[in-house]
Amino acid sequence: MNEAIERAADILVSRRYVVCLTGAGMSVESGIRPFRGPGGIWTEHGEPPLDDYGRFVDDPAGYWRNLIEPSGLYRDLYLALQAARPHQGHLALADLERRGVVRHVITQNIDDLHRQAGNVNVAEIHGNYTLCRCVVCGTRIGRQDVDTSSLPPRCAECFGVMKSDVVVFGEPIPQDVGSICAEQTDMADCMILVGTSAYVYPAAGFPRRVKEQSGVLIEIGPHLTDISGMCDHVVRGTAAEALPLLNDAVASRLDRRE
Ligand code: APR
Repeated sequence: MNEAIERAADILVSRRYVVCLTGAGMSVESGIRPFRGPGGIWTEHGEPPLDDYGRFVDDPAGYWRNLIEPSGLYRDLYLALQAARPHQGHLALADLERRGVVRHVITQNIDDLHRQAGNVNVAEIHGNYTLCRCVVCGTRIGRQDVDTSSLPPRCAECFGVMKSDVVVFGEPIPQDVGSICAEQTDMADCMILVGTSAYVYPAAGFPRRVKEQSGVLIEIGPHLTDISGMCDHVVRGTAAEALPLLNDAVASRLDRRE
Protein backbone atom coordinates (compact mmCIF):
# COMPACT_ATOMS: atom_id res chain seq x y z
CA MET A 1 0.00 0.00 0.00
CA ASN A 2 2.92 2.38 0.65
CA GLU A 3 3.67 2.89 -3.04
CA ALA A 4 0.00 3.70 -3.64
CA ILE A 5 0.08 6.16 -0.73
CA GLU A 6 3.17 7.92 -2.15
CA ARG A 7 1.53 8.21 -5.57
CA ALA A 8 -1.69 9.55 -4.02
CA ALA A 9 0.30 12.15 -2.06
CA ASP A 10 2.06 13.26 -5.27
CA ILE A 11 -1.34 13.76 -6.90
CA LEU A 12 -2.83 15.65 -3.93
CA VAL A 13 0.00 18.19 -3.64
CA SER A 14 -0.11 18.82 -7.39
CA ARG A 15 -3.84 19.63 -7.59
CA ARG A 16 -5.53 23.01 -7.20
CA TYR A 17 -8.78 22.16 -5.40
CA VAL A 18 -9.22 18.80 -3.64
CA VAL A 19 -12.59 17.72 -2.24
CA CYS A 20 -13.09 14.52 -0.24
CA LEU A 21 -16.30 12.45 -0.48
CA THR A 22 -16.76 10.06 2.41
CA GLY A 23 -19.25 7.26 3.01
CA ALA A 24 -20.11 4.67 5.61
CA GLY A 25 -16.79 2.86 5.19
CA MET A 26 -15.10 5.92 6.70
CA SER A 27 -16.77 5.11 10.05
CA VAL A 28 -16.49 1.31 10.09
CA GLU A 29 -13.39 1.57 12.29
CA SER A 30 -15.38 3.76 14.66
CA GLY A 31 -17.77 0.85 15.18
CA ILE A 32 -20.56 1.78 12.73
CA ARG A 33 -21.57 -0.91 10.22
CA PRO A 34 -21.49 -0.06 6.50
CA PHE A 35 -24.60 -0.50 4.37
CA ARG A 36 -23.08 -2.36 1.43
CA GLY A 37 -20.13 -4.63 0.83
CA PRO A 38 -18.86 -7.11 3.43
CA GLY A 39 -20.79 -6.71 6.71
CA GLY A 40 -23.19 -4.26 5.09
CA ILE A 41 -26.63 -3.83 6.71
CA TRP A 42 -28.45 -3.64 3.37
CA THR A 43 -26.25 -6.41 1.97
CA GLU A 44 -27.63 -8.58 4.77
CA HIS A 45 -31.24 -7.37 4.81
CA GLY A 46 -31.78 -6.02 1.28
CA GLU A 47 -32.07 -2.39 0.23
CA PRO A 48 -34.72 -0.55 2.31
CA PRO A 49 -37.94 0.80 0.78
CA LEU A 50 -37.65 4.26 -0.76
CA ASP A 51 -40.84 5.63 0.79
CA ASP A 52 -39.65 6.59 4.28
CA TYR A 53 -40.30 10.28 3.58
CA GLY A 54 -43.83 9.59 2.37
CA ARG A 55 -44.53 7.73 5.60
CA PHE A 56 -43.13 10.66 7.62
CA VAL A 57 -45.42 13.12 5.78
CA ASP A 58 -48.45 10.85 6.36
CA ASP A 59 -47.72 10.28 10.06
CA PRO A 60 -45.10 12.64 11.56
CA ALA A 61 -46.12 11.73 15.12
CA GLY A 62 -45.55 8.04 14.35
CA TYR A 63 -42.16 8.92 12.82
CA TRP A 64 -41.23 10.71 16.07
CA ARG A 65 -42.33 7.79 18.26
CA ASN A 66 -39.94 5.55 16.27
CA LEU A 67 -37.22 8.20 16.48
CA ILE A 68 -37.56 8.52 20.26
CA GLU A 69 -37.70 4.75 20.78
CA PRO A 70 -35.96 3.10 17.78
CA SER A 71 -36.17 -0.69 17.44
CA GLY A 72 -34.30 -3.39 15.54
CA LEU A 73 -31.69 -2.24 13.01
CA TYR A 74 -32.38 1.43 13.76
CA ARG A 75 -31.83 0.88 17.47
CA ASP A 76 -28.52 -0.89 16.77
CA LEU A 77 -27.46 1.95 14.47
CA TYR A 78 -28.45 4.60 17.02
CA LEU A 79 -26.48 2.89 19.81
CA ALA A 80 -23.43 2.61 17.49
CA LEU A 81 -23.73 6.31 16.59
CA GLN A 82 -23.82 7.31 20.25
CA ALA A 83 -20.78 5.13 21.09
CA ALA A 84 -18.72 6.16 18.04
CA ARG A 85 -15.66 8.39 18.29
CA PRO A 86 -13.40 9.71 15.49
CA HIS A 87 -10.54 7.33 14.59
CA GLN A 88 -7.04 8.18 13.27
CA GLY A 89 -8.37 8.44 9.75
CA HIS A 90 -10.88 11.14 10.72
CA LEU A 91 -8.11 13.03 12.55
CA ALA A 92 -5.80 12.73 9.52
CA LEU A 93 -8.50 14.17 7.27
CA ALA A 94 -8.87 17.14 9.63
CA ASP A 95 -5.09 17.61 9.40
CA LEU A 96 -5.30 17.59 5.59
CA GLU A 97 -7.89 20.38 5.80
CA ARG A 98 -5.69 22.40 8.15
CA ARG A 99 -2.80 21.98 5.71
CA GLY A 100 -5.04 23.46 2.98
CA VAL A 101 -4.77 20.25 0.94
CA VAL A 102 -8.39 19.09 1.37
CA ARG A 103 -10.67 22.12 0.89
CA HIS A 104 -14.01 20.51 1.74
CA VAL A 105 -15.41 17.20 2.96
CA ILE A 106 -18.75 16.05 1.52
CA THR A 107 -19.97 13.23 3.72
CA GLN A 108 -22.89 10.85 3.35
CA ASN A 109 -22.44 9.93 7.01
CA ILE A 110 -24.80 11.22 9.67
CA ASP A 111 -22.45 10.41 12.58
CA ASP A 112 -20.95 13.90 13.20
CA LEU A 113 -17.47 12.31 13.36
CA HIS A 114 -15.80 14.65 10.83
CA ARG A 115 -16.87 17.66 12.89
CA GLN A 116 -15.80 15.98 16.12
CA ALA A 117 -12.40 15.24 14.51
CA GLY A 118 -11.95 18.96 13.70
CA ASN A 119 -12.98 19.34 10.06
CA VAL A 120 -14.68 22.72 9.58
CA ASN A 121 -15.65 22.66 5.89
CA VAL A 122 -18.06 19.74 6.02
CA ALA A 123 -21.21 19.28 3.92
CA GLU A 124 -23.41 16.57 5.47
CA ILE A 125 -25.50 15.65 2.46
CA HIS A 126 -27.59 13.10 4.40
CA GLY A 127 -27.78 15.25 7.51
CA ASN A 128 -26.49 14.88 11.05
CA TYR A 129 -28.19 12.70 13.67
CA THR A 130 -27.40 15.20 16.46
CA LEU A 131 -29.61 17.83 14.80
CA CYS A 132 -33.28 18.35 13.98
CA ARG A 133 -34.55 20.38 11.02
CA CYS A 134 -37.78 22.17 10.12
CA VAL A 135 -39.13 20.74 6.86
CA VAL A 136 -40.65 24.13 5.98
CA CYS A 137 -37.96 26.77 6.66
CA GLY A 138 -34.92 24.49 7.09
CA THR A 139 -34.01 25.83 10.56
CA ARG A 140 -31.74 23.36 12.38
CA ILE A 141 -31.41 22.97 16.17
CA GLY A 142 -29.71 20.43 18.44
CA ARG A 143 -31.75 17.25 18.94
CA GLN A 144 -31.53 17.75 22.72
CA ASP A 145 -33.17 21.22 22.38
CA VAL A 146 -36.35 19.89 20.73
CA ASP A 147 -39.46 19.90 22.93
CA THR A 148 -41.02 16.46 22.40
CA SER A 149 -43.82 16.95 24.94
CA SER A 150 -46.20 17.06 21.97
CA LEU A 151 -45.58 15.26 18.65
CA PRO A 152 -44.62 16.22 16.07
CA PRO A 153 -42.48 19.06 17.48
CA ARG A 154 -43.00 22.42 15.80
CA CYS A 155 -40.43 24.92 14.55
CA ALA A 156 -40.00 27.95 16.84
CA GLU A 157 -39.41 30.10 13.74
CA CYS A 158 -42.32 29.19 11.49
CA PHE A 159 -44.34 26.51 13.31
CA GLY A 160 -43.45 24.01 10.58
CA VAL A 161 -43.04 20.32 11.43
CA MET A 162 -39.60 19.36 12.76
CA LYS A 163 -37.85 16.06 11.94
CA SER A 164 -34.39 14.63 12.45
CA ASP A 165 -31.84 16.33 10.20
CA VAL A 166 -31.08 12.82 8.88
CA VAL A 167 -32.31 12.65 5.28
CA VAL A 168 -34.53 9.59 4.89
CA PHE A 169 -35.10 7.65 1.67
CA GLY A 170 -37.37 9.62 -0.66
CA GLU A 171 -36.63 12.95 1.08
CA PRO A 172 -35.24 15.79 -1.04
CA ILE A 173 -31.68 16.82 -0.10
CA PRO A 174 -32.01 20.12 1.85
CA GLN A 175 -31.32 22.95 -0.55
CA ASP A 176 -28.58 24.65 1.51
CA VAL A 177 -26.35 21.58 1.75
CA GLY A 178 -27.21 20.47 -1.79
CA SER A 179 -25.95 23.80 -3.18
CA ILE A 180 -22.69 23.55 -1.25
CA CYS A 181 -22.09 20.02 -2.58
CA ALA A 182 -22.71 21.15 -6.16
CA GLU A 183 -20.43 24.19 -5.80
CA GLN A 184 -17.62 22.17 -4.21
CA THR A 185 -17.89 19.43 -6.84
CA ASP A 186 -17.76 22.03 -9.64
CA MET A 187 -14.60 23.57 -8.15
CA ALA A 188 -12.83 20.25 -7.58
CA ASP A 189 -10.00 19.19 -9.90
CA CYS A 190 -9.46 16.17 -7.64
CA MET A 191 -11.87 14.14 -5.50
CA ILE A 192 -10.76 11.58 -2.93
CA LEU A 193 -13.40 8.92 -2.31
CA VAL A 194 -13.14 7.27 1.10
CA GLY A 195 -15.47 4.48 2.19
CA THR A 196 -18.25 4.90 -0.34
CA SER A 197 -19.77 2.38 -2.72
CA ALA A 198 -20.76 5.33 -4.96
CA TYR A 199 -24.18 3.71 -5.35
CA VAL A 200 -26.63 6.26 -3.91
CA TYR A 201 -27.36 9.50 -5.78
CA PRO A 202 -26.94 12.44 -5.77
CA ALA A 203 -23.62 11.82 -3.94
CA ALA A 204 -22.65 9.07 -6.38
CA GLY A 205 -22.90 11.65 -9.15
CA PHE A 206 -20.24 13.93 -7.66
CA PRO A 207 -17.15 11.85 -8.63
CA ARG A 208 -18.66 11.25 -12.06
CA ARG A 209 -19.07 15.04 -12.43
CA VAL A 210 -15.43 15.61 -11.42
CA LYS A 211 -14.38 13.07 -14.05
CA GLU A 212 -16.49 14.83 -16.70
CA GLN A 213 -14.66 18.08 -15.92
CA SER A 214 -11.29 16.28 -16.37
CA GLY A 215 -10.61 16.02 -12.66
CA VAL A 216 -8.70 13.20 -10.99
CA LEU A 217 -10.37 10.55 -8.79
CA ILE A 218 -8.55 8.75 -5.97
CA GLU A 219 -10.37 5.88 -4.24
CA ILE A 220 -9.42 4.76 -0.74
CA GLY A 221 -11.11 1.58 0.42
CA PRO A 222 -10.46 -2.13 0.97
CA HIS A 223 -12.85 -3.48 -1.67
CA LEU A 224 -13.63 -3.03 -5.36
CA THR A 225 -16.62 -0.69 -5.90
CA ASP A 226 -18.87 0.38 -8.79
CA ILE A 227 -16.60 3.38 -9.33
CA SER A 228 -13.16 1.77 -8.89
CA GLY A 229 -12.80 1.40 -12.66
CA MET A 230 -13.35 5.14 -13.17
CA CYS A 231 -10.72 6.13 -10.60
CA ASP A 232 -7.28 7.32 -11.71
CA HIS A 233 -5.66 5.95 -8.60
CA VAL A 234 -6.72 3.43 -5.97
CA VAL A 235 -5.37 2.85 -2.46
CA ARG A 236 -6.64 -0.58 -1.36
CA GLY A 237 -6.70 -0.02 2.37
CA THR A 238 -8.99 1.04 5.19
CA ALA A 239 -9.69 4.62 6.21
CA ALA A 240 -7.97 4.31 9.60
CA GLU A 241 -4.86 2.71 7.99
CA ALA A 242 -4.51 4.72 4.79
CA LEU A 243 -5.45 8.29 5.74
CA PRO A 244 -2.78 8.77 8.46
CA LEU A 245 -0.12 7.43 6.04
CA LEU A 246 -1.43 9.75 3.32
CA ASN A 247 -1.37 12.71 5.68
CA ASP A 248 2.26 11.95 6.64
CA ALA A 249 3.29 11.58 3.00
CA VAL A 250 1.64 14.90 2.11
CA ALA A 251 3.25 16.61 5.11
CA SER A 252 6.74 15.48 4.09
CA ARG A 253 6.17 16.87 0.57
CA LEU A 254 4.94 20.21 1.91
CA ASP A 255 7.89 20.40 4.33
CA ARG A 256 10.31 19.86 1.42
CA ARG A 257 8.67 22.80 -0.39
CA GLU A 258 9.34 25.23 2.48
N1 APR B 1 -12.37 1.81 5.30
C1 APR B 1 -12.73 2.34 4.09
N2 APR B 1 -13.74 1.85 3.34
C2 APR B 1 -14.41 0.79 3.83
C3 APR B 1 -14.09 0.19 5.07
C4 APR B 1 -13.03 0.75 5.82
N3 APR B 1 -12.66 0.24 7.01
N4 APR B 1 -14.95 -0.87 5.27
C5 APR B 1 -15.76 -0.90 4.19
N5 APR B 1 -15.44 0.08 3.32
C6 APR B 1 -16.06 0.40 2.03
C7 APR B 1 -16.87 -0.71 1.42
O1 APR B 1 -16.05 -1.48 0.58
C8 APR B 1 -17.92 0.05 0.60
O2 APR B 1 -17.42 0.31 -0.70
O3 APR B 1 -16.98 1.44 2.27
C9 APR B 1 -18.05 1.38 1.32
C10 APR B 1 -19.35 1.53 2.08
O4 APR B 1 -20.38 1.59 1.13
P1 APR B 1 -21.87 1.85 1.66
O5 APR B 1 -22.11 1.04 2.87
O6 APR B 1 -22.79 1.72 0.48
O7 APR B 1 -21.83 3.35 2.16
P2 APR B 1 -22.20 4.67 1.37
O8 APR B 1 -21.57 4.68 0.02
O9 APR B 1 -21.91 5.79 2.27
O10 APR B 1 -23.80 4.54 1.21
C11 APR B 1 -24.47 5.68 0.72
O11 APR B 1 -26.60 4.68 1.30
O12 APR B 1 -28.01 3.59 2.77
C12 APR B 1 -27.64 4.82 2.27
O13 APR B 1 -27.91 6.85 3.39
C13 APR B 1 -27.11 5.70 3.37
O14 APR B 1 -25.38 7.38 3.26
C14 APR B 1 -25.70 6.04 2.92
C15 APR B 1 -25.79 5.83 1.42
